[in-house]
This record gives sequence, structure tokens and C-alpha cells, in this order.
Amino acid sequence: MSDLLEVNDSRTGKHYTIPIADGAIRASQLQQLQGSADDHGLLSYDPAFMNTASCRSAITFIDGDKGILRYRGYPIEQLAERASFLEVAWLLRHGELPTQSQYDGFVHEITYHTYVHENIKKFLEGFRYDAHPMSMLCSAVAALSSFYPESKAIFDPVQRNISIIRLLAKVPTIAAFIYRHIKGLPFVYPDNELSYGENFLSMVARMSEPKYRSNPVFTRAIEVLFILHADHEQNCSTSAVRGVGSSHVDPYSAIAAGIAALYGPLHGGANEAVLRMIEEIGDKSRVPAFIEGVKKGSGRLMGFGHRVYKSYDPRAKIVKQLAYDVFQSVGVDRDLEIALELERIALQDDYFVSRKLYPNVDFYTGLIYRAMKFPTSFFTVLFAIARTSGWLAQWEEMLLDKEQKIARPRQIYVGPGERPYTSTLKKRIVTPASALSSGTPTSSAALAAATG
Ligand code: CMC
Repeated sequence: MSDLLEVNDSRTGKHYTIPIADGAIRASQLQQLQGSADDHGLLSYDPAFMNTASCRSAITFIDGDKGILRYRGYPIEQLAERASFLEVAWLLRHGELPTQSQYDGFVHEITYHTYVHENIKKFLEGFRYDAHPMSMLCSAVAALSSFYPESKAIFDPVQRNISIIRLLAKVPTIAAFIYRHIKGLPFVYPDNELSYGENFLSMVARMSEPKYRSNPVFTRAIEVLFILHADHEQNCSTSAVRGVGSSHVDPYSAIAAGIAALYGPLHGGANEAVLRMIEEIGDKSRVPAFIEGVKKGSGRLMGFGHRVYKSYDPRAKIVKQLAYDVFQSVGVDRDLEIALELERIALQDDYFVSRKLYPNVDFYTGLIYRAMKFPTSFFTVLFAIARTSGWLAQWEEMLLDKEQKIARPRQIYVGPGERPYTSTLKKRIVTPASALSSGTPTSSAALAAATG
């Protein structure tokens, strides 16, 4: 016998039986609970979707209390230790690890789609030198849609596949071009002999050397950080991709929506905010005063807290170790000392402990990116490159899910009831409908002729 929720509606005295499946009830079942005959049925009210599942997904599993993160069942710790980013991108989309021939074919396809249309370069050159890299990335990825109009055929598996390959291949190229633009350096074209991570670092850092060789510690750090950021189930940006994608727009536009959501300081922008906070603190001795300020409400301890993880973010543990490895290669940074002191004090303070606020993935990523000499404003772009793989897997899962429709939440209207329009403003206004009966004004006639 299946699990059931027994509900008594005190408004009507009626009794309802609602099925429970996978620990959830269907919100649409609540519609049958009507307070009166003209009532549209009971709504569930859930601002910020704190307790609402918007989909069934087989991609990423999180247990926030236990600090567990798995992609398609594989623990993040094992993937970060042994997998490559492209292997993870394949896994997220297809559900299984690739065979050798699938992997080789996938890497080949990605490698040979890394070039972008030359017009993208001109387009990027139009941005000012101090434009934020996330604004540029969001616009450039949205613009890709205009280069591939055939990508609108989202239910054609061939078109869907090539769009996914193009996005995975071209986002790092666009990101690297953005880096070169803000630095005032010439663009570096992809090098098809390098791995995904090495090629990205080559496009970012190569100068006059005939062949770019990246620091192996940096290549490893990029690979691991991309794996850690690849997916994180129904977060703000993934929900944006699914929500926008549910209108059946092309994938470039849907991914651009994800990039816009990721830009915010409460989401992917947090790694940038952590570094700005550390800069503001300036010295380890000022950490206690800063923490006291946070407790009194003068801002948040950026890189701490998470909507889902209520114990240590498993990604933060891996990133902390990675930060040590990178700093061993490039030398210890004063900022790392400030970060360690913030973490030490916060983890002992009842304010943070009682609210289950622990370091999240973004607490240490910024320090690693800074050690690799990426500008602070570029950090979220690195997050976006990795997350593109998760967004695409989630987008395709949403499209192929027969239960999904265009996303359209309900609301509880709390505004005024009907009232007559009584404005007394003096203004230029279109001719009221009641005065339109006598002939067509000249301007309208001209417009009609022009638009034919
Ligand atoms: N510093 C100080 N207090 C905090 C913090 C923080 N970082 N985060 C939450 N709180 C307090 C908050 O003031 C509230 O206290 P009270 O109950 O007294 O009002 C309580 O903890 C619960 O906070 P909330 O805002 O209701 O929690 P949330 O689940 O809505 O927010 C969060 C989650 C990640 C937006 C939030 O913890 C935060 O703003 N953190 C800093 C930004 C950050 O690091 N974001 C990166 C998230 S991980 C990467 C990603 O997913 O993109």
C-alpha cells in the first residue's frame, strides 16, 4: 500500500487523501481543497522554493545534513581525485562514465569546436576595457544563438548534441578572449594539441612562446575546480536555465540566463565577494573585529553558509587542500592567513555554529584563482565555464521530461481590489479609444504604409 497524507479541511469539514511518493505530495493535489465553490483550490506558498521540488532529476544528489555530494551516484571526492573534467561532463549528461572510445570521440569533438566565429572577437572588442567579465560572457553566449539559428530545433537530437558540444567547447574560448580583452592583450587561438584545461590556460596566459606549457599544479587545480563546480542540482542558476529553457528557447539563450543568475553575489559571485572582503579586512589582526561586525548585522561573512549544506560543504574540504597545494607552488599568501583566521574564529563562534554556517566552496576558490593571477572580477567566469556542463545536462533532462511544461509559478495577490482610474496628470497621451472613430491620424497612416 502506498503512503498517504490524510487531510481535514477545517473550512469545509471535508476529508482528503493525498498520495505521497518519493517523500513528496504533488502540489496540484491541493487544488481539490476548495474553501467554497468559486475558490480555485488551495495553493502552496513557498517563497524562494525553500521546500518545493520543481523536477525529478537523476543527475546530482546532495545530502546537506551529512555533507554528501554525488554526480550520478559517484562521490565528488572520488571524481575530484581521479576523473577528468570532460569525463565528468559526459557523465552528467549521459548518466554513465564513458567507454574509452566514447571518451576519445567526445574529447575530439570538443577540441575541434573550440574556435569561435571571428565576429565574436569584434563583438567583444566593443566592450569597454573595464566591463565586468560576467556581463561580457553573458552577452557573448546569448549572441552565439544568432550564429547558430538551427539550434532552435531543440527536439532534434542532432541539433541538441551539436549545441551542447559547441557550448562546452566555445565557452572557455570566449572566457579566455574576455580575459585578454580586459588585459589589453591580443587574443590567443585554441591549441588543439592541449587538454581542455591546458588549452584554456594557454588561451589565457600564452605570450610569445611557440608552445605554451602550463604549471602542472595550475592545470590540476583548474581540472579539480571545474569538476567541483560542474553541477549542484536545482540552485539559482540551474533553475534559471530550466525555467528559461522551459519556454523552448535555444540553449545559448537558456545558458546565458544561467550565467546572469550566477553573476549575483549570493551565488557564483560569492568567490569574488570573499576576496573583496579579505582585501577590506587587510590584516589577520582585524579578523575578530570583522566577525563582531558581521554578528551585529553589518554584512555577511562571504563564503560561509549554504541553503542546502548544514554541515561542511564537501567541496570546501577538497578546495582547502587544493589551496595548500597551490600555495606550496607559488608561496603563502597573506590573504590565505586571513582566510584561515576567519574560518578558525567563525567555527568556534556560537553565532555561526548555531546557524549551521560553515565554509562553502567559494571560501577558498578565490584564493586559488588569485594565486593563479586571475583578476578578482574574472572568478565567476571560471565557475561559469565549469557549470555550463551541469546546466546543459539539466536543460536536456528538463526537455526530455514528459512531465515538464513551461515554468509558471502561481502567486498570492496582495494588492488593491478593483478601483476606477482617476489620474489628473497633464501629459502627452495616445488618443483615447473613444475619440478614434473619425479617421486615421497622418502618422498612423505613414506607419501603416512603411510597415506594409
Ligand atoms: N554570514 C553571516 N550570517 C549569515 C550568513 C553569512 N554568510 N549566511 C546566513 N547567515 C545568517 C542569516 O543572517 C540568518 O540569521 P538570522 O536567523 O539571525 O536572521 C541565518 O544565518 C539564515 O540565513 P538565510 O539568509 O535565511 O539563509 P539562506 O539559506 O537563505 O542563505 C546563503 C544561504 C548562501 C545565500 C547565505 O548563507 C549567504 O548569503 N552566504 C554568503 C554568500 C555566499 O557565500 N554564497 C555562496 C553560496 S555557495 C556557492 C553557490 O551556490 O553559488
